[in-house]
Amino acid sequence: MIQTLVCKETHWSLEDRGSGPPLLLVHGFPLDHTMWQAQIEPLSARYRVIAPDLPGFGNSRTETSDPLTMEFFADQLAELLGALGVSQPVIFCGLSMGGYVALAFWARHPSRVAQLVLCDTRAAADDETTRRTRELTARRVLTEGTEFLVETMLPKLFAEQTLAERPGDVETIASVIRNTPPESVAGALRGMALRPDRTAELPDITVPATVVVGEHDAITPPEEMDRMAQSMPRATFHLLPGAGHMAPWEQPARFNELMMGSE
Ligand code: MLT
Repeated sequence: MIQTLVCKETHWSLEDRGSGPPLLLVHGFPLDHTMWQAQIEPLSARYRVIAPDLPGFGNSRTETSDPLTMEFFADQLAELLGALGVSQPVIFCGLSMGGYVALAFWARHPSRVAQLVLCDTRAAADDETTRRTRELTARRVLTEGTEFLVETMLPKLFAEQTLAERPGDVETIASVIRNTPPESVAGALRGMALRPDRTAELPDITVPATVVVGEHDAITPPEEMDRMAQSMPRATFHLLPGAGHMAPWEQPARFNELMMGSE
């Protein structure tokens, strides 16, 4: 069931289900918590699953909209956990932009983290070309709306097999992208462009980390995520066959199995 909660600058919309160790599921760009639909119920058998829409996305609204930095999201999530009465350190699971937020959260609120689950993400900052492309996309989305983003993003998000075999589910993700406010899309693009390179911080991540990537991820490739896992002292690396950039969404049974076996 969707809950709402007003907390400082953010009017949150989230799912909070189950009991047990708290598991925070943080979605990618430009999506919302529904990308975790295949996780929320099964994982709530073992965890207290908290799946919010990030401020500006889904049904969560915020007063601060441009840029939406990873640090802003991390601090807002720390506030949210406090408001939900979660004092125990959480298992922070983030996909792609959610993973950037996870690393920012670790840097700023380490005592709140029991474990990291980093899916289809990276520690490195953007290069200059990516920054420029993000700014051009931000300007375009503010004038044209989100439709062009659906066309450009879908082929990059999924493995070819997913696009061919699950057109209806892919269309559901397309409509989430389409319905994201252009101001939030632009704000997050500019926020991601500002994120620091956290590669040098990886050896200091002393909590257990689970690194997950789709075999065909074209945005954050397996080789890069493998190197990331090797830089963290307590990380394990997991390649999900048949998946692209949306590995937990594309291969939920494999991903959930992994989560049910870890603590
Ligand atoms: C995401 O899936 O969150 C995005 O691909 C992240 C990015 O644009 O770097």
